[in-house]
Amino acid sequence: MNIKKANTRFPIHTLLKKRWSPRAFNGEPIETDKLQRIFEAARWSPSASNEQPWAFIVGINGDDTYEKIFSTLVEFNQLWVKTAPVLALSLGRSISLKNGMPAEWFKYDVGQSMAHLTFQATHEGLFVHQMAGFDREKAHQLLEVPEKYEVITAFTIGYPGDYKVLHPNLQAMEIARRERLHSDDFVFSGSFGNAVDWLKPER
Ligand SMILES: Cc1cc2nc3c(=O)[nH]c(=O)nc-3n(C[C@H](O)[C@H](O)[C@H](O)COP(=O)(O)O)c2cc1C
Repeated sequence: MNIKKANTRFPIHTLLKKRWSPRAFNGEPIETDKLQRIFEAARWSPSASNEQPWAFIVGINGDDTYEKIFSTLVEFNQLWVKTAPVLALSLGRSISLKNGMPAEWFKYDVGQSMAHLTFQATHEGLFVHQMAGFDREKAHQLLEVPEKYEVITAFTIGYPGDYKVLHPNLQAMEIARRERLHSDDFVFSGSFGNAVDWLKPER
């Protein structure tokens, strides 16, 4: 299994440091109690006006749901996803349950519930890999999603595997160093673009 801990400038929580998005999984199924806890973590995420606009459609490798979601993936993602025991969709309700008006923050809320889910999955020894590379319209139709919901991402969950199980074109990417902008490139004070002193590298 490939370990790609974040090379942080400041110490962060071990689980956040450990999380990354592998494409190689070892194929082992995920225990039901772990799946229960992972989606429980998503459930307890905050959301605007407590709308809880998220929904998930979860396929287990070998079932019909998995195959349907798999058929919507772009070719690049189909190359690696097959070893993942779980393939799922995240969805968001674009209409407020409370007043029937457009729910402005729904994608933000779904993203945050994914972050909670991912944190719990990491705690369970699992890894999550999110994807935008799939046909959202096709997923909407195949999974019979109601009009007021949007399909947002596809994602896999699984135990990490040996990068050598991957298609040869993907192996170098799997072991490449993880890169990030510096936090002083996106944390500002006073006006946009004005980096805060306490994040400047020389401090
Ligand atoms: C919304 C979203 C869409 C993504 N789409 C894809 C995708 O279609 N295929 C893929 O292989 N990785 C995809 N990724 C994974 C990113 O490339 C990955 O998170 C990023 O390179 C940072 O790497 P790390 O998660 O290992 O830190 C996606 C991630 C997110 C959050």
